[in-house]
Amino acid sequence: MPLDRKTAPNDLNAFWMPFTANRQFKKSPRMFVAAKDMHYTTSDGRQVLDGTAGLWCCNAGHCRPKITEAIQKQAAELDYAPAFQMGHPIAFELANRVVDIAPKGIEHVFFTNSGSESVETALKIAIAYHRARGEGSRTRLIGRERGYHGVNFGGISVGGIVNNRRMFGTLLGGVDHLPHTHLPAQNAFTKGQPEHGATLADDLERIVALHGAETIAAVIVEPMAGSTGVLLPPKGYLEKLRAITKKHGILLIFDEVITGFGRLGSAFAAQHFDVLPDMMTTAKGLTNGVIPMGAVLTTAEVHDAFMTGPEHMIELFHGYTYSGNPIASAAGIATLDTYKEEGLFERAAELSGYWQDAIHSLKGLPHVIDIRNMGLIGAVELEPIPGEPTKRAFEAFLRAYDKGILIRTTGDIIAMSPPLIISKTEIDTLIGTLGDVLKSL
Ligand SMILES: Cc1ncc(COP(=O)(O)O)c(C=O)c1O
Repeated sequence: MPLDRKTAPNDLNAFWMPFTANRQFKKSPRMFVAAKDMHYTTSDGRQVLDGTAGLWCCNAGHCRPKITEAIQKQAAELDYAPAFQMGHPIAFELANRVVDIAPKGIEHVFFTNSGSESVETALKIAIAYHRARGEGSRTRLIGRERGYHGVNFGGISVGGIVNNRRMFGTLLGGVDHLPHTHLPAQNAFTKGQPEHGATLADDLERIVALHGAETIAAVIVEPMAGSTGVLLPPKGYLEKLRAITKKHGILLIFDEVITGFGRLGSAFAAQHFDVLPDMMTTAKGLTNGVIPMGAVLTTAEVHDAFMTGPEHMIELFHGYTYSGNPIASAAGIATLDTYKEEGLFERAAELSGYWQDAIHSLKGLPHVIDIRNMGLIGAVELEPIPGEPTKRAFEAFLRAYDKGILIRTTGDIIAMSPPLIISKTEIDTLIGTLGDVLKSL
């Protein structure tokens, strides 16, 4: 008898679930068994409106025919081919397609399998870039408090979320952190980019003065910090970071794993804020979340620094078995086609005003201490229960799921980032239901 995968399994023990309260979940499981466009179907047959694009990744919605068909076709035609010393056309095509929508100045793409791997790749390229140019003393990496750059050792070292760091030993040496930009006293309930905090970028000058610019390889920040609870860059902040890094010969890396592929209404946040970094890390929306794939985007200057030495020699000793995997590449091309044909980045920009009004209508509801938004992303911050941080938001998440909407929580912050195909009526349902949940807490 074939297994019926639409029913919940009766033994949940073996799968150690990632970033999950495993014991709570296994007592009271929440299972999705199907998805279409804006909705998931649960194992008990309910429809749940996806307020988070899966995990900030299904920007075109779910089970989109073009992407499904491209994967099926590619799996039957060329399932796998190595990308070390061999090639296959579709990876080159996808790289070109990504460059086509990237900011002017970005010319090369290095494929990975996830956001975490994109981050490790970019940090390694940054250090190796300086060494290739004869500045081998530039090894120091600068991240930011409350930054999220995935879960590998480089990423948690430059990242700034304490629970992701404190269990895991000494991490990478030679790392410093800029202060985070979350200033609720001045910026609470700002619509869009906050006014206050650009000068926090000046802290980079302090770090440079402390260590010497000649020891610093790169600064990595999320242009808009997502996973820590949607923290927007204050007006002028990213411009200042760019000016200071440039002045001191330090590479600037934008981690665009969430902001890439339309979330803010442009292909990338770099275009939205009009600030060009030296590298961008991406994943998620690259394949609509359907097949694991990430990519590091670089300027010609970064790439060309490696293109020296004998031509038969490998220039960068780095890569993954699945870098540029054919099926992932096919999914990527079909995803970019879908974004383009349906004008989804423009749609996100057009809907952002409606989204802003909707989410800010929750101001004044019980426990709401801040609301933040940009593009099609938003956060509602709740006052923690004294002595029990995260509990209030987790309870909201559970009640929301029972009422048929998927939201995400981090600490006591509720984050939402719906697929870019969401309609105004669905925005009303999502925010209206969340309002009911907040009133019930
Ligand atoms: C900014 C950022 N960087 C890196 C990652 C890690 O991506 P992944 O989970 O694909 O490794 C994430 C995931 O949410 C992210 O938001």
